[in-house]
Amino acid sequence: MKTRRFHIAPEEASPRHPAILECAAILQHSGLVAIPTETVYGLAANALDANAVAKIFAAKERPSWDPLIVHVSDFEMISRVALDVPETARLLAEKFWPGPLTLLLPKSPNLPVTVTAGRETVAVRMPAHPIARALISTANLPLAAPSANRFGRTSPTTAEHVLRDLEGRIDAILDAGPTNIGLESTVLDVLRRPPLLLRPGGITREQLEAVLGKVEVYTGPAQPAQPEALPSPGLAAKHYAPGARLFLTDGTQEALIHAIRQHVAAESARGEYVGVMAPSGWIDDATLTAGGVVLFEWGEWGDWPQLAQNLFSGLRYVDKPGVSVILCPLPPEEGIGSAIRDRLMRAAQ
Ligand code: TXA
Ligand code: MG
Repeated sequence: MKTRRFHIAPEEASPRHPAILECAAILQHSGLVAIPTETVYGLAANALDANAVAKIFAAKERPSWDPLIVHVSDFEMISRVALDVPETARLLAEKFWPGPLTLLLPKSPNLPVTVTAGRETVAVRMPAHPIARALISTANLPLAAPSANRFGRTSPTTAEHVLRDLEGRIDAILDAGPTNIGLESTVLDVLRRPPLLLRPGGITREQLEAVLGKVEVYTGPAQPAQPEALPSPGLAAKHYAPGARLFLTDGTQEALIHAIRQHVAAESARGEYVGVMAPSGWIDDATLTAGGVVLFEWGEWGDWPQLAQNLFSGLRYVDKPGVSVILCPLPPEEGIGSAIRDRLMRAAQ
């Protein structure tokens, strides 16, 4: 299949824009469209159409046990996929939607079981990106949309990333430039007491606790478990993984420089390079001129939103042929730094 690419700027979002109309029609006819959201690009299909949903799993090579997030453009649409919106969910939705927060709700029987991988809950979010919103409301369909990468790979923050993984496997992509937040939404199980944070993301734990009081953070099973048995199965797998081995250093300049020296000595003997996710101003000229490194200017250390925005494109950038090791300092548990940590630790597994 030929994948059609439509360029559209966020400011051009309108139900009358030809690209929005064409993509809405593709979705209404069981097709697949990659869409920009404020977090990462998603691979969208009509959530109410089992045939369309099956195509998402096939294109991504995603295992059937990993459930999908359903995207809506207004509150009314939730009733087409969920039975009910409990009070805690309503509070959070009013505060953080549209935005990077996904809430588990009781699943409606109208929704194909494949969307939720047979679970009784459905993950729902209302994205903030104007193109995503215009598309959902024009198609007038709730859209199932996982991140638009092949299963296990780094999530895409640009149309180029999506096409590298999925060109020829999907009907179309709406290219609205790089995404803003750069990593995926926070996933929260609000049906538990206290609520359980399954995946840290764009809305921080601190922001959730300001509304809810105590939130528990999921830390993974004590024993290795089958994905089906976990509160959030997608979290089990090695994820966001570059081809090169990823080594994480503690969040200081000294530790990173030390690790670069060590690894360059070992890798250059084999004619290979060391990729470095380098905070601004951390790498001195001596380290650079010694050679053997592929550097990505990651951003200001301490500016976690900026580092989050650049994280996945940086990992893809340094993961070049000839690079056998990637070094990256690990941010602290602080704001969206927690989400960066989480993705790096999964990628380094
Ligand atoms: O920001 C995002 O959330 C992006 C954009 C496209 O919206 N989407 C995204 O979807 O990251 P995906 O499929 O790559 O990640 C969804 C995660 C998976 O780990 C999945 O296991 C979990 O959410 N999940 C989905 N439905 C669930 C459910 N009913 N119960 C528990 N976990 C669920
Ligand atoms: Mg994903």
